[in-house]
Amino acid sequence: MRMYDIIQKKRQLCELTFEELQFFVNGYVSGEIPDYQASALLMAICFAGMTDNETANLTKIMASSGDILDLSAFGSDSVDKHSTGGVGDKTTLIIAPIVASLGCKVAKLSGRGLGHTGGTLDKLESIKGYNTSLSSAQFMSVAEKCGICVCGAGENLVPADKKLYALRDVTATVSSIPLIVSSIMSKKLAGGANTIVLDVKTGSGAFMKTYEDSLELARRMVSIGKLSGKKVSAVITNMDRPLGRNIGNALEVAEAYNLLCGKTESNDLLEICITLSAEMVSRSKDEPFEISREKVVEVLQTGKAKETFLKWIGLQGGDISVLDSAAFSSAKYKTEVLSPADGYISSADAEGMGITAMMLGAGRQTKADVIDMRAGIIQKACVGDKVKKGEVIAILQSDTVEDHTNAAERWLKSLAITDTPPANQPLVYDIIR
Ligand code: URA
Repeated sequence: MRMYDIIQKKRQLCELTFEELQFFVNGYVSGEIPDYQASALLMAICFAGMTDNETANLTKIMASSGDILDLSAFGSDSVDKHSTGGVGDKTTLIIAPIVASLGCKVAKLSGRGLGHTGGTLDKLESIKGYNTSLSSAQFMSVAEKCGICVCGAGENLVPADKKLYALRDVTATVSSIPLIVSSIMSKKLAGGANTIVLDVKTGSGAFMKTYEDSLELARRMVSIGKLSGKKVSAVITNMDRPLGRNIGNALEVAEAYNLLCGKTESNDLLEICITLSAEMVSRSKDEPFEISREKVVEVLQTGKAKETFLKWIGLQGGDISVLDSAAFSSAKYKTEVLSPADGYISSADAEGMGITAMMLGAGRQTKADVIDMRAGIIQKACVGDKVKKGEVIAILQSDTVEDHTNAAERWLKSLAITDTPPANQPLVYDIIR
């Protein structure tokens, strides 16, 4: 087999066989196929696309390029949730204890944040002592005891994706839907769960900016999951504005914990968490969505989900005594951002707000950057709220960056204030099963 012929075949819009895709992936991972040939094939895929069958084959081959988590000990109870990335997205911290309280097992390898979106591991590490690198035996034991374990994905989880993603990033080939599907779904297949619920974000702060692209991505991911023998649903949710009130690592943990304690100020966050949790339980237990939804609301109301959260964090070494203290998420330097006008907040550009958080030190511009765990933003007014000129609409905070002038300007640039209230936007657009 020759890489030249595979590139030419794709360029001529033909379907590649399993063997051809395997030759490409394995050859690229081992270093036998050079970057220039891999880039040429990726670009041909961008233009020619891939059938579902080809995408499913590529996904399987990528998934088996490294370790595959064995969650068979949990039978059909193993569930996973994946978000395509957003700003203020702390849903894993809330959903995992909810579904674990209902008998599901969330044994999950998560990633760190890069750019304007945050990562679950960074958020968890804002809790002193939380250990993200357990041995396989410890990982399974924690999940067995409390229904949850969230650790960092090692270097050998889908090495093919690490190499291919880095190449896509520099060859303008990231946005091809079959390449995104195979990248995300290979990691989900290697994650080993039986049921997978995908939170496909749509809007200004999301990877997919339009509903049509998000729908196409959702449909393709569900179809590839099914072809690989998994139960998969995709919930398309709004990321035109940040999710919830807080952005930043410790601030997001505090917001998630408060919600589990029954003290949320964000109905949007609550509603998205209830929907995603209900979908996970419903698919995992094969029961009607509405029945699962009622159970989800009940474990939130009785405090069972909060107890599961505390047990989980404690078992992974986190100091749970800090969570009830305001000092946990409070920072040294704080700046109030005042509304420049009377009116309604009619839009909030989530990407711009994520960039503001990064300017304060809450995110990384490069992989090597060190995060300020308590840096971030508390929104005092969100989309739809009526504001008065001079009213505090946000608080910026950090432990390291002293001067918040540029960050405050960036924040204000992300907002629109108008005389009339904005039209209501859906929170959950669709569920694809
Ligand atoms: N997220 C991924 O993991 N891969 C992509 O290709 C895009 C988003």
